[in-house]
Amino acid sequence: MQCSIDGVLLRSSDPLPRAHKALSFLQTERIPFILLTNGGGKHESDRVEELSQKLDIELDTSMFVQSHTPFADMRELHDKTVLVVGGDHDKCQLVAQKYGFKAVVTPGDIVNAYPDIWPFTKIFAEYYQRFAKPLPAPIEADHPDKSLKIDAIFVYSDPRDWGLDTTIIADLLLSREGIMGTLSSKNGDKTLPNNGYQQDGQPKLYFSNPDLWWAAKYHLPRLGQGGFREAFEGVWAAITGGQNAGVKLQKKVIGKPYHETYEFAEKRLRAHRNDLYTGESIEPLRKVYMVGDNPESDIAGGNNYKSTFGSKWSSILLRTGVYSGGEPAHKPTVIVDDVYDAVQWAIEDAK
Ligand code: G3P
Ligand code: MG
Repeated sequence: MQCSIDGVLLRSSDPLPRAHKALSFLQTERIPFILLTNGGGKHESDRVEELSQKLDIELDTSMFVQSHTPFADMRELHDKTVLVVGGDHDKCQLVAQKYGFKAVVTPGDIVNAYPDIWPFTKIFAEYYQRFAKPLPAPIEADHPDKSLKIDAIFVYSDPRDWGLDTTIIADLLLSREGIMGTLSSKNGDKTLPNNGYQQDGQPKLYFSNPDLWWAAKYHLPRLGQGGFREAFEGVWAAITGGQNAGVKLQKKVIGKPYHETYEFAEKRLRAHRNDLYTGESIEPLRKVYMVGDNPESDIAGGNNYKSTFGSKWSSILLRTGVYSGGEPAHKPTVIVDDVYDAVQWAIEDAK
């Protein structure tokens, strides 16, 4: 079973009524499951410890995939200088460093070093000073500008200061090869086609979570990282002339519903099955159930994922999160009230 967290097991930090009962049933029956979330913001080990306490269930990081988990495997960037955006203070910076990234910068570090980069952050100055780190020395010793050069931009979690984060990402995408405070010779000329922006050598942009909405504590869904990305795309279109000028934001978005996130999670689920039973087995999982509350990420992903390993997937939509009734945009195999009903339905279906 693959299980979303927000709107299925938790609403923000509050466990949902039958979440513990559902997970302990799966563990008692030795049914392999993975918590597959578009959430993030802490290291997997910290999040799993927190979830184990909240849900009163023994979990480990092998049963857990969050939005930015796959970024750890981008070893080709570990020795580069990367900007990490989103989350509370420096938590995502610490996550990226634990993944092996050696030079990790946050927007807070940058605004602390260049206070005038965004005129409206002065009211947050004390917050940023508390967590800011000195900017890394330019890696290339003979770096002509001796200023910060960013090689890749990652959005790990929901940005808190959309104004500052939007400004810094736009600065970098318009810069000469990712060097802060510069403008590429071609930028600003709207007559140029898309290759007038984000040419080779400029930082690549990675988002970890496409969710426009997610189920927090409030009774209505809240804007997620996908909301920030849509806002940024609007600013980028205004800056560059957008589609009319043939400019499309070049970016990579991972997370549910995308194939690589589901494939990454299925590898974890297979490994968990092997831990529980057969040791090294290449047998496909006979049936996999994607249990979620968001039709756009959980149901679309569960329906469209063509398993690399030959397993058959079904999608189960719950009424405890983003979905609030009516005909969902993506038709699940079944709609049930909560996660315990989902587990019981899957048990019957798998017979
Ligand atoms: O930020 C978390 C939200 O986007 C959804 O998380 O667990 O429902 O995939 P989840
Ligand atoms: Mg969810």
